[in-house]
Amino acid sequence: MSDRFRHDVLVIGSGAAGLAAALHLSDHARVAVLSKYGLDAGSTDWAQGGIAAVTDSTDTEFEHVQDTLRAGAGLCRERTAWHTVCHAQEAISQLAQWGVDFDRDGNQYHLTQEGGHSFRRILHVADATGHAVSSNLVREARQRESIELFTNRAAIDLITTARLGYPTNRCFGAYVLNQRSGRVEVFEARHVVIATGGASKVYLYTSNPDGSTGDGIAMAWRAGCRVANMEFNQFHPTCLYHPHAKSFLISEAVRGEGAKLILADGERFMPRFDPRGELAPRDIVARAIDHEMKRLGSDCVYLDISHRPDALITRHFPTIYATCAALGIDITREPIPVVPAAHYTCGGVMSDLHGATDVPGLYAIGEVSCTGLHGANRLASNSLLECLVFAKSAADHIKARMHDRLDVPKAPDWDESRVTDSDEAVVISHNWHELRQFMWDYVGIVRTTKRLERAMHRIELLKREVHDYYSNFRVSSDLIELRNLIHVAELIVRSALARRESRGLHYTLDYPAKLPHARDTVLYPALTDPLDVLQPVAG
Ligand code: FAD
Ligand code: SIN
Repeated sequence: MSDRFRHDVLVIGSGAAGLAAALHLSDHARVAVLSKYGLDAGSTDWAQGGIAAVTDSTDTEFEHVQDTLRAGAGLCRERTAWHTVCHAQEAISQLAQWGVDFDRDGNQYHLTQEGGHSFRRILHVADATGHAVSSNLVREARQRESIELFTNRAAIDLITTARLGYPTNRCFGAYVLNQRSGRVEVFEARHVVIATGGASKVYLYTSNPDGSTGDGIAMAWRAGCRVANMEFNQFHPTCLYHPHAKSFLISEAVRGEGAKLILADGERFMPRFDPRGELAPRDIVARAIDHEMKRLGSDCVYLDISHRPDALITRHFPTIYATCAALGIDITREPIPVVPAAHYTCGGVMSDLHGATDVPGLYAIGEVSCTGLHGANRLASNSLLECLVFAKSAADHIKARMHDRLDVPKAPDWDESRVTDSDEAVVISHNWHELRQFMWDYVGIVRTTKRLERAMHRIELLKREVHDYYSNFRVSSDLIELRNLIHVAELIVRSALARRESRGLHYTLDYPAKLPHARDTVLYPALTDPLDVLQPVAG
């Protein structure tokens, strides 16, 4: 028998989106929050630059919306952009109430500049904004009796009526691996919120922490949700290039304070690619770096802030300064070696202005979602903002439906009667590496149809192999993540093959021009893929 838990709302994910939603709900509902590792394990805790919001009297919401739409290259939903931008001040005040102490210049917020923004409008806590957000949300959540926090719990799949054979679909829980006990538990709830973050771990080089394996996108897809715009993978132009630094970002705010991108011989190259230079949108900067590295056969380019005053550098970027110093790089004196790396998943589970998905009872918020805010390319520092605004919108929507009459069955126990322990863990680690390597090589910053087809062929082989593995062996965290990564890789490549143009973050040598009409790439779930089984052996 599986251990069972029942709550009003199940929130899967403890980043900015998940914890903010739980806090907004906590006066009205009993909420379970799951994290597959610790509570601060997601990208939120790693965010550096800050949160975009109009707080200066010379700036306007109109300009913030226009910058968002411009970066999104014709694919943003304008209503979503207005909804998000107009709720930004409210989100900032709420964060301040929860204890986030943004940097100030006297009575005003200190604002930084990032690529694609026509104003200084990024609120920040030095260069560790995400940690300030995450630690305060965790502290607040721990204080609320109505919120129960479950760590080391990896959601495997969503429980829906359709998958149990009912004619209509509703989500009412999830099967969850308790990584400590190794047992699969059943979490039931009237409403389920997925806030599992992005999928950048599908690439070999990424700025993201380990958990960004696209679990929520894969789970929602298998449960019957449409997924959109998965070809738009944002590569951050400047991750530290150093053998002993895994996934360390050099914030765009460093370029906002005047840092220049240079080649090994000292040439500043960005003006050759865009008049906005280092502060052009990320897709342009990342592609320019990729072009220069390939042209020169070099391993990295360099970011140089050493011409700015030492005090400014150490005050605004203490974490970056200290991390580089520990690796022997004094950023006040010398340039920083940098490379692009996978950073943000612009596409995701299609959701509306309330975070509601195609499956009743199921919400998707934060990086896992595709709300239409980012279009073909996300504007810097709009992500934390989206997490917070949609956490509130989803919570309000759920609160209004808290007492609706629901008729859902009891979720069956997880059946492991016919699976055994694996003695071939090496298969999983090998497949993990293979997937991430060919996604980097064939589905990266610059694509071709031939490379995408090659990637798809390998994905199909891996999908079968992992399906066999999943059917025969007891689930483990690595297996859950690999299965999800393969599903996400397939969604990315299918979307990339479907887009016969270059737009925003999707650039292909076979279709270098932008088509006159911008269209989302929307994938419809089959719900019948034999390789998408709910659990190893149906009970
Ligand atoms: P996350 O914060 O990633 O949290 C995901 C949560 O889901 C985690 O708790 C994880 O454990 C849990 N989870 C995942 N899968 C499962 C599962 N199967 N079962 C249970 N739990 C699961 N954006 C900005 O706006 N400004 C910035 O300055 C900025 N800087 C960034 C710097 C870095 C280095 C990175 C990586 C990203 C940055 N971003 C920034 C992007 C932004 O941080 C993320 O998009 C945002 O934090 C995502 O928040 P989230 O709540 O959606 O997910
Ligand atoms: C950064 O600080 O460069 C990251 C900002 C973001 O991803 O929005």
